[in-house]
Amino acid sequence: MDLQIAGKTALVTGASKGIGLAIAEGLVAEGARVVMAARDQSDLAAAAERLRGGPGEAVAIASDVADPSRIRRLVDDARQRLGPIDILVANAGGPPAGPPSRLDDADWARAVELTLMSAVRLARAVLPDMRERGWGRIVNVTSLSVKQPIGDLTLSNAMRSAVTAFARTLAGEVAAAGVTVNNVAPGYTSTERLEQLFADDYAKARLMASIPVKRFAQPFEIAAAALYLCSEQAAYVTGQTLVVDGGMVASTY
Ligand SMILES: NC(=O)c1ccc[n+]([C@@H]2O[C@H](COP(=O)([O-])OP(=O)(O)OC[C@H]3O[C@@H](n4cnc5c(N)ncnc54)[C@H](OP(=O)(O)O)[C@@H]3O)[C@@H](O)[C@H]2O)c1
Repeated sequence: MDLQIAGKTALVTGASKGIGLAIAEGLVAEGARVVMAARDQSDLAAAAERLRGGPGEAVAIASDVADPSRIRRLVDDARQRLGPIDILVANAGGPPAGPPSRLDDADWARAVELTLMSAVRLARAVLPDMRERGWGRIVNVTSLSVKQPIGDLTLSNAMRSAVTAFARTLAGEVAAAGVTVNNVAPGYTSTERLEQLFADDYAKARLMASIPVKRFAQPFEIAAAALYLCSEQAAYVTGQTLVVDGGMVASTY
C-alpha cells in the first residue's frame, strides 16, 4: 500500500538504533525526507548512511531530547535543512529501571525531562508549521506498560501514561487543523534496550514463553504500525494508542 507520504518531511528522534531506526528506514522507503536524531554522532551518521540511496532522504542531526535548548535547535536545524516538518516521531531511550522505593526526586526529574517533556517540547516546536500547512502527523513511541505496568520499570510506567494522556488531549486541540496525534505502544522488541533490561538468558526465555506469539517483536513490526499512523490513510485516526505486543496485554480494551 502506498502510504502517500512521499516527499513529506519527517523528524524521528532516537533514530540511530532499534525501533526509531526501523521507523526512519520505513519512512525513507516510502519516499519521505527524514531528519534522524540521537545523541551519539558516529552511531547516528552510520545509521543515516545506511538509509541513503532509498527513495527518500536521510539527514543526521545529533541532539539530546532531554535538553530543551537542544530540542529547539534540532527543530530549527531540521527546518533549515529540509523545510517545515510534516511528520514527528517522538522517541528516545527509556528511563532506567528501579522499584518505587529506590527512586529519588532527581530520578523522577530526569525521567520527566527525557520521556514526558521531550514529547511535549517536540510537539510544541513542530506544531506551528503543521497547523499553518493544514497537515501533520505526530506519533509518540510509548510502551505496552500504558496498558499493564511492567515489573520495576516504575519511571517508564508512569511517564508513558503521562505521554498518552498528553497526546489524547493534544489530539483534540489540533484535530481540526489536519494534525493527528497518536502513540505506538511496543511490546518486547529485539533491540539493545531489551538486551540491557534482560541480560540473563533464563529470564529472557521465561519472558518469551509468556508472550502469546512466543517471540519478541522485530523493530520493523513496530515501525509498520507507526508508519500507518503517519500515513494519509490514517487521517481519521487520532488520540489513539496502537499496541503491538504479540498479544501480551490480556485486556478487552
Ligand atoms: N525494546 C523494547 O522491548 C521496548 C518495549 C517497550 C517500549 N520500548 C520503548 O521504545 C523506545 C525505543 O526503544 P528501543 O528498544 O528502540 O531503544 P534502543 O535500542 O536503546 O534505542 C534508543 C535510541 O534512542 C536514542 N536516544 C536515547 N536517549 C536519547 C536522548 N536523550 N536523546 C536523543 N536520542 C536518544 C539512542 O541513541 P543515543 O544513545 O546515541 O542517543 C537510540 O538511537 C524506548 O523509549 C523504549 O523504552 C521499547
